[in-house]
Amino acid sequence: MNAFEILDGIYYAGVNDRVTSLFEGLWPLPYGVSYNAYVVKGDKTALMDSVNISMVNHLLTLLGTERIDYLVVHHMEPDHSGAIPELCHKFPEMKIVCNAKAAQMIRGFYGVDCPDRFITVKEGDTLDLGGGKLLRFYMTPMVHWPETMMTWMEDQRLLFSGDAFGSFGAVDGNPLDTISTDWSIRKMEMRRYYAAIVAKYSRPVQAALAKLKGLPVEYIASTHGPVWHERASQVVKIYDEMSSGKTRQGVVIAYGSMYGNTSAVAEIAARRLEERGIREIRVYDAGRADLSRILADIWKYKGLLIASPTYSMNIFPPVEALVKALEVRELKDRVTGVFGSYAWASAAARLLTERLTAMGLPPVSTVSMQLAMNDETAAEVKNLADMMADKILSSEA
Ligand SMILES: Cc1cc2nc3c(=O)[nH]c(=O)nc-3n(C[C@H](O)[C@H](O)[C@H](O)COP(=O)(O)O)c2cc1C
Ligand SMILES: [Fe+2]
Ligand SMILES: [Fe+2]
Repeated sequence: MNAFEILDGIYYAGVNDRVTSLFEGLWPLPYGVSYNAYVVKGDKTALMDSVNISMVNHLLTLLGTERIDYLVVHHMEPDHSGAIPELCHKFPEMKIVCNAKAAQMIRGFYGVDCPDRFITVKEGDTLDLGGGKLLRFYMTPMVHWPETMMTWMEDQRLLFSGDAFGSFGAVDGNPLDTISTDWSIRKMEMRRYYAAIVAKYSRPVQAALAKLKGLPVEYIASTHGPVWHERASQVVKIYDEMSSGKTRQGVVIAYGSMYGNTSAVAEIAARRLEERGIREIRVYDAGRADLSRILADIWKYKGLLIASPTYSMNIFPPVEALVKALEVRELKDRVTGVFGSYAWASAAARLLTERLTAMGLPPVSTVSMQLAMNDETAAEVKNLADMMADKILSSEA
């Protein structure tokens, strides 16, 4: 076997994908992504999850001549289950250990329909591999799909967490975070993964965190990115913040602009926020910046100013896409502001205000501008920035 030993008898058998440019056909992967499988060897051997279908051969090469007795399936999204048919073929005796929902998906996705194959597990069930390797299963539905579960190894203090605590970005070299992780990039890739993939399921993430709170976790082996060890408690804290809506005193300004009138106003707002003591300001052109990057920062900061021109009596399309993404993810507890521009019949300012209000995030103020900026608009926008800054700085950091 060519997998990397993390702990005695526990191996990282993940593979790097530096070829796919869009995860889920949507989210850019500037640093690639890893699909993490693991091998646990006691008297019997278990493979924890598998990999994307395009990488099955890489996984089989890592496993070499190792005989797999059990495949534990934590999550059925095809980036982790793609090797199931091949593994079933290669290991006719292999049992698939999963919950009832996953078993149904395995039948539906891969046509594996042999009842003898499955060991169906529930909350708290265990599987003893012998040799001091005891797997205990925790159901964590909707972290990210309904069938998701985690596995805890008490003696090793190791949690197989599925997509939770995962990050975009391939694993360069040693999969343990102690050695090869560039933390600033990794942190952004983790926030981006959370905001794009997991944020919709923040409540189930909180429920899972509550369930796992008492466990003395020293190693977190997720399905994407490094194995957290040195940074395990830090990563749990970041996850707790992202899923509970705890934010920092900063502002994201996300605007759309075709001809520069709206972007000019966004610049005025950014400068004023800075003058009023907001130190972290992130300004994004929604038509050009990657949506996951904008979402990652929206999940980090308390303030959100959205600005859009009116476009055929609607919100400008890339800003509309952002608002839709916020609605889907049920963004909560933010200080918002709205700016809209138009030439002859305004719509964007009103529509943005309605949408944010319906989300329970009514803007502190809405400013509307016809044609180009003048002193009056600039003053209104500064006033809007002042109101946002006051509210953000008086909120808990
Ligand atoms: C395709 C297109 C559709 C537009 N639709 C509207 C509209 O329905 N109502 C309106 O008042 N202005 C409309 N406008 C004008 C823009 O909202 C206005 O020029 C605005 O100042 C553009 O802001 P920007 O310079 O930041 O791109 C439209 C402009 C374009 C190019
Ligand atoms: Fe997933
Ligand atoms: Fe995944």
